[in-house]
Formats: sequence, C-alpha cells, structure tokens
Amino acid sequence: MEERKEKRIIMFPLPFPGHFNPLVQLARIFHHRGFSITIIHTSFNFPDTTHYPNFTFRTIHHHNEGEEEEDPLSKPDASGMDLVTFIRQLREGYANPFRESLKAEVGGGERACCLVSDVVWGRTTEVAAEEVGIRRMVLTTSGVASFCAFAAYPLLRDKHYLPIQDSRLDELVTELPPLRVKDLPVMETNEPEELYRVVNNMVEGAKSSSGIIWNTFEDLERIVLMNFSTEFQVLVFPVGPFYKHSENILPTTKNKEDHVTTDWLNKQDPRTVVYVSFGSLADIEEKEFLEIAWGLRNTKQPFLWVVRPGMVQGTEWLESLPCGFLENIGQKGQIVKWVNQLEVLAHPAVGAFWTHCGWNSTLESICEGVPMICTPFFTDQRVNARYIVDVWQVGMILERSKLDRKEIEKLLRKEMGEEIRESCLKWKDRANVCLSKDGSSSKYLEKLVSHVF
Ligand code: UDX
Repeated sequence: MEERKEKRIIMFPLPFPGHFNPLVQLARIFHHRGFSITIIHTSFNFPDTTHYPNFTFRTIHHHNEGEEEEDPLSKPDASGMDLVTFIRQLREGYANPFRESLKAEVGGGERACCLVSDVVWGRTTEVAAEEVGIRRMVLTTSGVASFCAFAAYPLLRDKHYLPIQDSRLDELVTELPPLRVKDLPVMETNEPEELYRVVNNMVEGAKSSSGIIWNTFEDLERIVLMNFSTEFQVLVFPVGPFYKHSENILPTTKNKEDHVTTDWLNKQDPRTVVYVSFGSLADIEEKEFLEIAWGLRNTKQPFLWVVRPGMVQGTEWLESLPCGFLENIGQKGQIVKWVNQLEVLAHPAVGAFWTHCGWNSTLESICEGVPMICTPFFTDQRVNARYIVDVWQVGMILERSKLDRKEIEKLLRKEMGEEIRESCLKWKDRANVCLSKDGSSSKYLEKLVSHVF
C-alpha cells in the first residue's frame, strides 16, 4: 500500500464517453502496474463512481456555478450549442477550478508523479501543471492520422483547403494523402475562427507536453507516427488498444439489458447481424432516422441498432417511427438505447458494424475483426473513414448525404468482399501481436511506466 501511495497519477478526462472510457481503461492499466489513481472530473457529466472503486474521484465545479445553481453546461439550452463553443466554454469554465484542485492534490501528503490530461483540454492544464511542478502528459483518444490533420491546420489554411469549398470536396490533399478535402477534420460551427483557435490550442498543448499517450498501435499507424515524430520533438507512446490490456485486468460490470442483447445475438446465425451505432455525440435529423429505419427493415437482415435518447433531433426516442413499425420487424431487429459495444463486436453473430467512425469504435471494430460501413459525421471521423476504406481496407463508405433507404438496402445486401474480410483478420491478428509480450504496445507501455514514475 505504501509503495502504491508513492506512485500516484492524476488524470483529467474530457467529460464525454468517447474520451472518458479510454482514459479509464488507461487508468486501469496504470493501477495494475502499481500506481494509485486520482481522477479530477468536471461536475458536468460526472460519472457513477461506484463502477470504479479503485480510483479516487474529485469533482470540480464550473466557475459560474453557484452553490445552489447547476452547471450552466448542463442546462437544456446548452444542448443546442455547437461543439466548438461547448469546448471553449468547458475550457474557460473549468480552467481555474482545475488549477485549484490540482494545487490541493499535489500539495497534499501523497506524492503525485504525473498529470495525464485529455489532449482536448489543450493549454488549460499547462500553467497549472507548471505552477505545482508536476510532469504533464497528454492522452490523445483519437488516432495519429487525424491528429496530424489537425496539426496541419495552419498549412491547410495557407493552401486554401480550409475553409472547405464545395467545389473542391473530392480533391486530394497532396500534403496529407490519402485524405481528400471532404475528409478534413472540421465540424459545423457558428464560430469558424474559434474552431481554429480551439484546435491550435490543443496541438500546442500536446507539443509542449512531456509525452503523448496514444490509444493506437504502431503497426496500424506506422507511417503517420513516423511523420509525426519527424516533425514534432515530443515523445510518443502508442500503447493501445487500451481496452485489450485492461479487459484481463478488471471485468466490466453487466446490467440486465446487456443480457437481453446477448440472448438475442445468441439466436442469430454467425456473421449475419448488422450492428448500427453512431457513438455518444452525433445526432441525426428525423428524416435521416426514418430512412435508416426503412433501409434496415427492408434488407430483411437481422440488425441491432443503438438509438440514444435525444439522438434524433426534436424527438425523445422512437416516437417518430410509423405506427406498427416495431411489431413489423418483430424479432428480426433490436433497437436499444445503449449496449455493451465491446461485447457486441466480439460476438460471432455480428457480421458488420455500421458506424460513425469515432476512434474508439474504429479501433474496437478493427481489433475484433468486424468489417465496417462508414458514415462519418464530423472531426476525426472523416479521417478515420478514409483510412478504414483506403488504407486498412476494412470497410465501405456510405456517405451521410446518401442516407436514402434504397442506398442503405443496396449496401447492406452487398456481401462484404473477401478482400475486406481477409484484411479484417489480418489487422485483428496484428493488434494481438502488438499486445503480445514482445509486441510494440507492450514495449511502449514499459517505457511509459518508467517515464511517468
Ligand atoms: C467522440 C468523437 O465523436 C469521436 O470522433 C472521437 O474519436 C472520440 O470522441 P464518440 O462519438 O462517442 O466519441 O465515438 P467513439 O469514439 O466511437 O466512442 C464511443 C464509445 O462508446 C466506444 O468506446 C463504444 O464502445 C462505446 N459505446 C457506444 C458503447 O459502449 N455502447 C453504445 O451503445 C455505443
């Protein structure tokens, strides 16, 4: 116990599942290596800490939050805010509370050896870490290829690729092959200049850190990792996929709904189910929702579809489905609010994953050998989709602008080609090799453990 106390890591996640989940997986790896873990978390989206009994949680409150007042970012009118504005407000609202919390943590009795903060916090954490004299590393929860595209923003602006012009969408970005203009990691915002500032701040925060921890593996992104290291003088630790290290360390807790889904999957034939999920942030228009619903129904293939409450704009959950739709699909399809995705992807009945290409979903699908149908929405998802289709060759594209029931039906009925299936097996295998005792992720993990201590 005394030894563990001497090795404490303070972590600061961005409060969204796509960022919090990998951070917790990394925390489990560190904990398994003898470190104690303190997680400083915003009051916004504060997690149920009973799921993480081995970690100490500290809450920080938004600076506008009065004693009786809830976090302004949790108010209903915040949900219409665009993501760029939201991130700016997160950074502004939590910078000082974080600073105070870090000071209290580091000034306390137990020695803390390192701060690991999500890269999206950018330079918010830099001054705070310098003030208390703690080493600061960043965790990048997206892939290296997309980070390189973010880092290239100044160049992309100089060369007029950004802002994106509709007339150039299919043009190759010669400085970042195989990306095309439409793959560049942007998002819709009312504040375009703010997007550049937010991204620049993130890249600068990573460059000035004592190292970048990446949820990727070397074989998968070898070339972009090499390019990155040539351009930036910062240590990199591609130790992923995190969840593959951590799944043997702590079993995840299951709830009743997980069992219902597993029972249904158990009744399906091997490789027949299309699993559909667009992650934890993307939302869709009602019109798109209905096209997807009809497309899935018309294929007559079994499907498991995650529709998060609130994911369909202007509705609560499924109420816009036509009367009798659910009865009509019967046992052929399952529509759920959330699933244990790792378990679903590992199930032999799942034959394809229709995804928004968030980095966690991409990595999980690759590691479980499941081919993807790619409908990217924003930011890194577009880059990931291009790599899935053109570089790793483990999927097909279905652009969001083509979300039409006939297109969907046509694509879902099309067999994934043998080449795609072979590539999936190849990458699954390579991920396992990287994780093996002498594999690159294991070696980088050893280096990382020595570096943080
Ligand atoms: C966000 C961004 O959108 C994404 O582009 C970025 O790479 C990471 O942050 P998100 O949209 O939530 O993430 O997608 P993704 O990265 O795929 O993460 C979703 C996570 O939630 C995955 O780990 C997935 O396994 C999990 N999940 C999702 C579930 O466990 N159950 C579900 O029903 C849906």
